[in-house]
Amino acid sequence: MQDTINLLLTRRSVRSFEERPIEEEQLKLLKEATLRAPTAGNMALYSIVEVFDPMKKQKLSEICDNQDMIAQAPLVWVFLADMQKWVNYFHESGAVEKAERDNLASYRKPGLGDLHLCMQDAIIAAQNAVVAAEALGIGSCYIGDVIENFEALRELLDLKQYTIPACMLIFGYPKGKKPVKLTPRCPATSIFMTDSYQQPHLEQLKTAFAQHEMQRRTTNSLPYDNTGTLADYYYLRKHTSPFMEEMNRSTSVMFDWWCNG
Ligand SMILES: Cc1cc2nc3c(=O)[nH]c(=O)nc-3n(C[C@H](O)[C@H](O)[C@H](O)COP(=O)(O)O)c2cc1C
Repeated sequence: MQDTINLLLTRRSVRSFEERPIEEEQLKLLKEATLRAPTAGNMALYSIVEVFDPMKKQKLSEICDNQDMIAQAPLVWVFLADMQKWVNYFHESGAVEKAERDNLASYRKPGLGDLHLCMQDAIIAAQNAVVAAEALGIGSCYIGDVIENFEALRELLDLKQYTIPACMLIFGYPKGKKPVKLTPRCPATSIFMTDSYQQPHLEQLKTAFAQHEMQRRTTNSLPYDNTGTLADYYYLRKHTSPFMEEMNRSTSVMFDWWCNG
């Protein structure tokens, strides 16, 4: 048990990889551990596209805010929320037809609730993969930008109506020494709330993010010549950034496609 807790307490995202591919036996274990993740109704409402084609990896890295490490990673997994497989199964098996014939149910298209569950399945499987990879000595990093440029991703991976990206992971053996210094986290008291949501305000938020702010100040990365706050940093660098605007546009398109085709 201690090993698992230690592993969780010391994991870091890894963004620089050795060139060698993941060993076959390890890849098999990584896949098995990923698939053992809990899944709603045991329906496996997700699929994983492994991108090996170098041209596709290059394109993917451009789509995802030009992060070169994607093209260089030996293993790239795009996790899809996938209801398409069940839509196909329901229709092709005759389940829809039989239920209509016997007046048991009329066909219902997948909605936002289905999407929500599919997303949960996909992301839970992804986190299993992160933990399993870490146990195998394989580094990993999520790529949030996979939800940008949906139209280009759809074309690149030949996505269907009920398959949309939930998250993405890149893996590889860490190049050089793993960073020992952990990234800061908020204290548990600022995250866990008892029995109802307690809206945090300025003083609580300053305390919650004090370590993050200190780290940024130490590395001279706060706005206004390093005199700004962490709120200034995230407001300017993330919240009002062009990539966030693109994520919101792209997500609207994918949700609309799921709902309306
Ligand atoms: C949903 C999500 C999206 C992320 N997207 C990116 C990304 O596009 N590029 C990147 O370098 N890191 C990305 N990360 C990694 C985070 O930056 C990282 O987890 C965070 O800074 C904490 O560092 P740690 O994982 O080393 O503890 C992402 C993480 C998550 C959970």
